Amino acid sequence: MNFKELTIAYKCLAAIGNSLEFNSMVFEILCTFSRRTNAISSCYYSNNSDQGPILKLGTDMDFIFNTKKIKNQKYIIETYNDLHIIILPLRYGYLEFTYKEIDESFQAYAVMFGDFQNKINVSIASCTGVERLERLNEDLLTSIENSASKVKKHEKMLVYQAKHASMGEMLEMIAHQWRQPITAIGMVANSILFDLVLDELDEDELKKQLDDINEQVDFLSNTIDDFRCFFKEDKIKENLSLNSLINRTVNFVKRQYTDNKIKIIQEQIDKDVYLEVLKNELMQTILNILNNAQEAFNEMTDDKIEKILSIRWNINNENIEIYIKDNAGGIKEDIIESIFEAYFSTKKDKNGSGLGLYISRIIITEHLKGNIYAQNIDDGTMFTIVLPLNKKTTSKDISN
Ligand SMILES: Nc1ncnc2c1ncn2[C@@H]1O[C@H](COP(=O)(O)OP(=O)(O)O)[C@@H](O)[C@H]1O
Ligand SMILES: [Mg+2]
Repeated sequence: MNFKELTIAYKCLAAIGNSLEFNSMVFEILCTFSRRTNAISSCYYSNNSDQGPILKLGTDMDFIFNTKKIKNQKYIIETYNDLHIIILPLRYGYLEFTYKEIDESFQAYAVMFGDFQNKINVSIASCTGVERLERLNEDLLTSIENSASKVKKHEKMLVYQAKHASMGEMLEMIAHQWRQPITAIGMVANSILFDLVLDELDEDELKKQLDDINEQVDFLSNTIDDFRCFFKEDKIKENLSLNSLINRTVNFVKRQYTDNKIKIIQEQIDKDVYLEVLKNELMQTILNILNNAQEAFNEMTDDKIEKILSIRWNINNENIEIYIKDNAGGIKEDIIESIFEAYFSTKKDKNGSGLGLYISRIIITEHLKGNIYAQNIDDGTMFTIVLPLNKKTTSKDISN
């Protein structure tokens, strides 16, 4: 090779494999090879394309190369009319360079292209490999997106199911809440009836008794309002006082707890925080924990133990931590890891849905960006709900 041919060989070699995108990689080869060697046209054909070249540069040609002629050669030289054509066979196709006038270097170009055969094959394989990988990546992304939306749908369904499951528990609570006021109303009505029969009805006394009835009716109507609110889909976040949210939740279960001789200790602190949350969601979580505690207390066989549930909260670093603790015997260590899983329940025989804590975890971790966990403490379980104190959370001192 003379100096001119060496320079051309160097330039051509440098043009191979500069891109991982198939078209621009092959195009750079066609461009550089034909410009440096003065070809009037250059094309890339794939083995299985009868329609013509995949990539083409320069003059249109009506020459059709018979691919059957390729037999392990590094290059093939063809003549067609007064044109000279170099064919460079590749693994999945071939390159074709056409020359009108040739000089003494023509043969050297053909040999040189032949020497680059392997490098071009490797570069094309890398491009197609990368393209395949990218396609695979895209497919993977779509299938991840599909699964994510499936999971979301499933979660929505579970939240719905859990709400239905807690509806039963709620009805039970309503029944408990109502029993006492209804009995009281019945007693007052009887007493009025009695006075009426004995003709001892005193107007002031009657007014007082009717006031009593009204008070009880107010209580009944408030409880039903509270429960109705609980089941309404709330989508708007409210700025809620944590103390009042806990109070309202505890009120839901108070009667049932008293009937089952469970003492509720609410540690009041002289602070309050206002949280931007969906009220029902946080209430649902605390209610799930309170209901589970009550069910655990009901399983206890030793009735000498005073049943105590304590609930308090605190600000710890950048978080609000709500602690709900019972002394109902705790959770066996070998299952404590599983209690937040969907459908995990040790109360299957009592129609336990196994969804309460699962939903609670979704509400706390995903909707409220917090954390929830359980641990065995002393002779019972303590649930901790951690909620981030964010800009929208305001803290207020209510000590005075
Ligand atoms: N305070 C608790 N004491 C003992 N075990 C508990 C307590 N809270 C939850 N668990 C356990 O966690 C399980 C899952 O609770 P949950 O998701 O509410 O489902 P379910 O109450 O329908 O069984 C319960 O079946 C129970 O074994
Ligand atoms: Mg439960």
